[in-house]
Amino acid sequence: MKEYKLAIVGATGLVGRSFIKVLEERKLPIKEYGLFASKKSAGKIINILGKDYVVNELTENSFNEGFDFALFSAGGDTAKKYAPIAAKNNCIVVDNSSAFRMEKDVPLVVPEVNFEDALNHSGIIANPNCSTIQAMLPLKALDDKYVIKRVIYSTYQAVSGAGRYGLEDLENTDNSKPLKKFPHPIYNNCLPHIDVFMNNGYTKEEMKMINETRKILHKPNLNVTATTVRVPVTNSHSESINVEFEKSFEIDDLFNTLKLFPNIVLLDNPKENIYPLAINATGHDEVFVGRVRRDESVKSGVNLWVVADNIRKGAATNAVQIVEGLISKLVK
Ligand code: A2P
Repeated sequence: MKEYKLAIVGATGLVGRSFIKVLEERKLPIKEYGLFASKKSAGKIINILGKDYVVNELTENSFNEGFDFALFSAGGDTAKKYAPIAAKNNCIVVDNSSAFRMEKDVPLVVPEVNFEDALNHSGIIANPNCSTIQAMLPLKALDDKYVIKRVIYSTYQAVSGAGRYGLEDLENTDNSKPLKKFPHPIYNNCLPHIDVFMNNGYTKEEMKMINETRKILHKPNLNVTATTVRVPVTNSHSESINVEFEKSFEIDDLFNTLKLFPNIVLLDNPKENIYPLAINATGHDEVFVGRVRRDESVKSGVNLWVVADNIRKGAATNAVQIVEGLISKLVK
């Protein structure tokens, strides 16, 4: 079997470390890794499957070494500058930032939902926003069966989605240190503000969810709205999703549709207090769905509670699954 060379850009970050963990677990045929971060991390040692690798400063020459794939999670500016350089060097990039997601020739991929889109890449594939990824699995399952006509998202997002500084702000429980990431204390608080505000009053995070949902489901005119909220949870995003359908449904049939979809775990037994929880989702790659109930205020609609590990399925695992899928199709 052919073995590949893979670069990780942002290897010292939360998602970067998780790329490594997931790659180790899933045993991809990678013979050599290249680890890159900013200048300040150059020289750090990271062990992968028993072998020590030195972290190098990311430069324009980093991709001269024949990498087949690169996983990027180092922010939009770094991606904009370096992903095209990698792609020019025949290295397929899966980028976790929002830099390329809405570009026409860049596939935006959740493997369980639209893996075929990845095959039409021009060197760069975008990993969707964490809160979009986890919503896509149940929405695709239900769209195929009942045809979605409207989606309302309300999210409860963990601080790990804001990187290391987000976690540090949550640990700052007595406000003794200046905040590093958020505009207000996150401890004991909820911030209806993720990413920057846009001219239409939505945040960029909300617009990402709206636009990315349309692109991944291939429904450019889908009615979608979102309110995204940062909550004082360390890890795993929770989402309330209200969905309206064109077609009618039987609730048992809808349960089965969700249950049969790859990598969805249905946890729905209210009598026993069983429903998805952030603390239980952390460390897992599946998307947990529960609180499934008919929306009695519309002709055909349902409410869902959807929880997933935002660093794993919402970022690292999804990106690694894309590479895994490409390797299995032998596109290289
Ligand atoms: P570094 O650790 O050297 O700052 P997080 O999202 O957890 O904050 O992680 C961001 C990741 O992106 C880190 O690995 C960080 O490296 C990396 N990074 C940030 N800026 C750059 C840059 N200009 N070039 C390369 N890597 C960068």
